[in-house]
Amino acid sequence: MQTRTPEQSKTTLTDVVLPGETNALNSLFGGELLARMDRAASISASRHCRQIVVTASVNHVAFTRSVPLGSVVTVEAKVSRAFKTSMEVFIDVWIEDRTSGEKLKANEGIYTFVAVDETGRPVAVPEVVPETTLEKRRFDAALRRKQLSLLLAGKMNPDEASELKALFL
Ligand SMILES: CC(C)(COP(=O)(O)OP(=O)(O)OC[C@H]1O[C@@H](n2cnc3c(N)ncnc32)[C@H](O)[C@@H]1OP(=O)(O)O)[C@@H](O)C(=O)NCCC(=O)NCCS
Repeated sequence: MQTRTPEQSKTTLTDVVLPGETNALNSLFGGELLARMDRAASISASRHCRQIVVTASVNHVAFTRSVPLGSVVTVEAKVSRAFKTSMEVFIDVWIEDRTSGEKLKANEGIYTFVAVDETGRPVAVPEVVPETTLEKRRFDAALRRKQLSLLLAGKMNPDEASELKALFL
């Protein structure tokens, strides 16, 4: 099966924050941002494998900076590593300064998608070949995150989590 780079799955969604999408502090509602991240990540995963994909897990989301009403928000997703049928997708969220155009990192997230056939059965996906230093760092740590996610979901026996054990032993 052909390999793919993270750049080949890169998906960028740019949109503005409207009044109906904010909380009591006039900042973007967290659930609205999660939906935008899920949408971008799902397109990215499907670009990587050219199959139907489903969200298997939201592994991590950090809401570091609030996103004020009227902000231009860019959500950028790339597949950081693929396993047999699952793919880890990294999502970086940027806010654009209206006057300078400078982009500030606001949030980030890590989702897991699984490629499935028409009946919902998992199917194999191409491997990822990371190119940049950041892509290589994310690729190298992805197996640890997969094992942690499976442990938390009760889908892995702690004794089998070799990558996590290696951190402590
Ligand atoms: C995701 C789904 C296809 C996995 O099915 P499954 O029967 O558990 O299949 P498997 O056990 O073979 O797992 C498939 C892959 O997903 C990975 N996976 C499953 N759950 C995971 C989790 N919580 N975290 C990380 N990876 C996970 C497995 O490790 C496996 O990866 P690999 O093949 O790359 O090694 C199935 O649970 C599903 O359809 N869930 C609903 C998805 C959905 O509707 N999402 C939208 C929510 S509204």
